[in-house]
Amino acid sequence: NKDQYILGIETSCDETAAAIVKNGKEIISNVVASQIESHKRFGGVVPEIASRHHVEQITFVIEQALEEAQMKVEDVDAIAVTEGPGLVGALLVGVNAAKALAFAKQKPLLGVHHIAGHIYANRLEKEFEFPLLALVVSGGHTELILMKEHGHFEVLGETRDDAAGEAYDKVARTLNLPYPGGPMIDKLAQSGEATIDFPRAWLEEDSYDFSFSGLKSAVLNTLHNAKQRGEELKSEDIAASFQASVVEVLTKKTLQAAREFHVKQVIVAGGVAANKGLRSSLEEVFKGEDVELMIPPLHLCTDNAAMIAAAGSIAFDQGHRAGWDLNANPSLDL
Ligand code: KG4
Ligand code: ZN
Repeated sequence: NKDQYILGIETSCDETAAAIVKNGKEIISNVVASQIESHKRFGGVVPEIASRHHVEQITFVIEQALEEAQMKVEDVDAIAVTEGPGLVGALLVGVNAAKALAFAKQKPLLGVHHIAGHIYANRLEKEFEFPLLALVVSGGHTELILMKEHGHFEVLGETRDDAAGEAYDKVARTLNLPYPGGPMIDKLAQSGEATIDFPRAWLEEDSYDFSFSGLKSAVLNTLHNAKQRGEELKSEDIAASFQASVVEVLTKKTLQAAREFHVKQVIVAGGVAANKGLRSSLEEVFKGEDVELMIPPLHLCTDNAAMIAAAGSIAFDQGHRAGWDLNANPSLDL
């Protein structure tokens, strides 16, 4: 039984990342070059700037991941790359780098779904037990996913408009906070009070879908009305009230799905999994349940390539192989 080493590559948004993962579970190296500073002054990710940075960074980042693992491309069993969803120009850089390397060294090539990656980030911490429920909350996604076995994903519900992280970033912008707004709002919320009763979008009773655009509008209206009345609202209280609404909906729907499908584990994935309010709320409600709650450490919540290698490891074991026609797919289905 030989050990398996996968080189993972991720360039779907604003992090250029490469990593080596052993047997799908152990991080050997994990290099992330963040572009946040370059996008900050535009208040969000600018696709053209993202692509250019990826082009500049990708070779260096892959070399560093190999160097830190003291390996050569020859030593890896396969190359896994995020094929989607994401920004098409950004994805293309990773996909083409992976294809070039795989072709040059005649290595198997694996296309990985970005969300599968976020879910599999948790397996770098602890082995999965099925059935498993994943709450995926990132800048582009808000989804509840049921897994009954490795590599199979059943989407129970998803956002009908804004993603959770997107709502955070938009509300942050109206509060004149720098990008990315999620961590800033989270921080403000810690010292504020949820004095404003913002709406919770429960949708239909049995629905696991989400909606955050109404909440975002409610925050905007509240700020606008207060301004017209010459009232001063504390940013801390707006942040705390907004966060209370998001966290309550995410927590209750996750709990309901965990009970309905009798899951053994609940895992939280994506950038918003870093949210302190969400973490403590989930910990609170799942304390009383016969379910194991798993939330990855912060550096595995946000975009990285170890999670892509971890998901790629399962794809490799299950015999999936991408052809040389592998292409970036910005709206890839899970
Ligand atoms: O998973 P990720 O790194 O990239 C995507 O695939 O989207 O997630 C980034 C998102 C951003 O919207 C960011 O504001 C949000 O995650 N985020 C947070 C926190 N940290 C990052 N949102 C709320 N609270 C946080 N602590
Ligand atoms: Zn992500």
